[in-house]
Amino acid sequence: MKAAVMYEAGKDMVIENVTIDGPKHGEVMVRVTAAGVCHSDLSTWQGKGALKLPCILGHEAAGVVEKIGSGVDRVKKGDHVVLSWAPSCGRCFYCQARLPTQCEVYGRAASNGVMWDGTSRLRLADGRVVHHFTTQSSFAEYCIMPESGVVPISSSIPANVAALVGCAVTTGFGAAVNDCRVRPGDSVAIWGLGGVGLSALMGAKLSGAETLIVVDPNPRKGEVGTRFGATHYINPKEVPDVPDAVRQLTHGRGADAALECIGKSAAFEQAVLSIRGGGIVALVGQAPRGEAFTLPAARALMGQQKRIVGSHYGGAVPEQDFIRILGLYDSGRLPLDALVGKTVALEDINAAFRALERGFDTRQVIAFD
Ligand code: APR
Ligand code: ZN
Ligand code: ZN
Repeated sequence: MKAAVMYEAGKDMVIENVTIDGPKHGEVMVRVTAAGVCHSDLSTWQGKGALKLPCILGHEAAGVVEKIGSGVDRVKKGDHVVLSWAPSCGRCFYCQARLPTQCEVYGRAASNGVMWDGTSRLRLADGRVVHHFTTQSSFAEYCIMPESGVVPISSSIPANVAALVGCAVTTGFGAAVNDCRVRPGDSVAIWGLGGVGLSALMGAKLSGAETLIVVDPNPRKGEVGTRFGATHYINPKEVPDVPDAVRQLTHGRGADAALECIGKSAAFEQAVLSIRGGGIVALVGQAPRGEAFTLPAARALMGQQKRIVGSHYGGAVPEQDFIRILGLYDSGRLPLDALVGKTVALEDINAAFRALERGFDTRQVIAFD
């Protein structure tokens, strides 16, 4: 199969002919139909995340089941599916504690760039092993997934939209709905209007938030935010005191909830200072490995009873939340089509990464034909 192989951080990926083994017990082979280009792929490629090389990136995808391994009964050949980047074993401590995206079995496999049995299904022509990324690796024509990472959906859902539900939408929407529990009338402020931030914005709007403030240094994002329902835009490059600007828009108190969707210390600090007493900040963005976040001490947190939550995959149970989100899309309440800014070919992957680095307005999706 054709796949984009990453050999070295920061170096162009190479389109290679990669051998993919069939699915083993409990695994599913999926023909990838669409794969979104997410900032986590970019950060990982830049060397900001741990990674076993060579590897195939891609963790936000949809496809059609090509083949099932023994023991698989959730899907059959021909089913349309959304792929999760955090399949779960169902049996470990975290799975039993209803935190499936913390699954220990998955965590071990993902950090070693292999499948659950400790081996890879991917090889180069010279026999060298290619590692998996999040046990998905969907910047390729086919991928192998543990069965729990493959969620069947209606074939009427466009592949582009289904792909984005696999990461950005669930991460952002879930952060607002599951983690911040936004309620009608709330004021919500969002830092970073990429695919994740825009999804958080849609989730907050659908939950009935009244005041929706977006903060992003890219001046084009003001207009993008308005299109997705933002009521106010703040450019942190032009506004000297962002928390003060947020307070002015929220009865002088601060927002009920803030979502940091970039992974930058400066934005996180602004978010904490921008919420009211008792308000909540969801840390959604992925900071580079080893990075520390700083906060002004006592008053900002303890004195004002603020809460900070780590928001991972939107606090979702992917198998359930994907379906819930696609139901809202189907009934016209979640305009996910608007998230797809551009479709590109797999061969254009390096250009797509550079475009994201410069700041792409919405989402770029790799389309396979
Ligand atoms: N304050 C506010 N916004 C910022 C700042 C800042 N200091 N710095 C950058 N941004 C904006 C960018 O202008 C861009 O609009 O953050 C946005 C990031 O968008 P994308 O690059 O499309 O990122 P996305 O794919 O949405 O991912 C966001 O979530 O899942 C994680 O790893 C992912 O950390 C990443 C984050
Ligand atoms: Zn992602
Ligand atoms: Zn588990």
